[in-house]
Formats: sequence, structure tokens, C-alpha cells
Amino acid sequence: MLNIAVLVSGGGTNLQAIIDAIESGKLKSVAIGCVISNRKDAYALTRAADHNIPGECIRPRDFNSMEEYGDHMADFLRTRNIDLVVLAGFLVVLPANFINAFRGRIINIHPSLIPSFCGDGFYGLKVHEAALARGVKVTGATVHYVDEGTDTGPIILQKAVYVEPGDTPETLQKRVMQQAEWVILPEAIAIIQKELEDRS
Ligand code: GRF
Repeated sequence: MLNIAVLVSGGGTNLQAIIDAIESGKLKSVAIGCVISNRKDAYALTRAADHNIPGECIRPRDFNSMEEYGDHMADFLRTRNIDLVVLAGFLVVLPANFINAFRGRIINIHPSLIPSFCGDGFYGLKVHEAALARGVKVTGATVHYVDEGTDTGPIILQKAVYVEPGDTPETLQKRVMQQAEWVILPEAIAIIQKELEDRS
């Protein structure tokens, strides 16, 4: 069984996609051990509660430093035997000590085809605003491993989505979520689960 932690900051639609994939049997031998948000009001925590998944709010501001926050987060996840950390709309830049503690076991979903429209300042609607401003005809989403950089780790999966005439950042964001993010994030977890299973 792959025990995952999902880190969130907002609405949690990517978390919901993972929950739905598990509950439908599409994603096998995977369990969500906990959901952690840096924001108490994140609707993602409500989604977790609705599915009897332990949810926690752990805020960097409650610690003396980001390093202390990173150590606490690492300890919290280790005590829960978490195998894989999934960043799903998580807006905190994780410190190096946390990355080191879970190196090679942290993945992130980004709403563009990396290396386009990624890195510092590219999150949420800003990504789609930049894609529309550049006039790209195709965008999409990427699941990648997380390293010390921002959206710089090895790419696991990508899925393309056409930009349509008249798209606004909002309509494009929704299409990228529906047609790409919610598809490739569960798929990426399944790939990692199989790799770990084959190794054991
Ligand atoms: C998604 O667009 C995701 O790609 C980005 O942040 C957004 C989070 O959405 N990282 P949700 O909280 O999963 O609904």
C-alpha cells in the first residue's frame, strides 16, 4: 500500500481527483494518510473531512523559522509512515531540510507544460494569464518531482490542452484542470506506486 500525504492551500480539486480515483478503484493500493494545509480555511480540508481523511492545518507562521517548520513537517509525515508527498495546489515554498528528508518522494502538479510559464511567480491564474498573453495555441499540465528549485525537478507526466478562441484565464484554467491536471496527477501516483511495488 502506498501511503500518501497531500499538501494543499486552496479548493482541493486535485485532491478530489485523487480521492475519486481511489474510491472508484482506478487507483489501487494507494491510501491518503493525511491532508495538510497551510490555511485553515482551505476547502480542501473540508473535502478531506467529507471522506474521513485526517486533515491538519500546519502554518509556517507558527514556527520560528522555515527550517523549524520543515523539520516539524518531516517529523509529522514520518510518524505517519508517509511514502509519497503530493503537492496539490500547495503554495508554500518547502525548505531544503524538508526536501532532503523526502528527496525523490515529493511530486507537484503545475498547470502548464513545463518549462513554459513556470518558476517564481507562476501559480494559479497567473500561469494562464501568461499563456494567453503569449498567444500559445497549446498549453496543459505537468507532474514533476520536487527539488530545491521552483518547478525544476524531473518531469513525470504531461498532458496537452488546446487554447480555444475567446478563452479567458478562468475558462482556460478550468479546462486545464478538467482535461489535464485531474487526469495526470492520479496517473503519476499510479506510476510511482507500480515502480515502488516492482522494486520491493
Ligand atoms: C491547480 O491549478 C494546480 O495546478 C495549481 O494550483 C491549483 C490548485 O487547485 N498548483 P486545487 O486546489 O487543486 O483545486
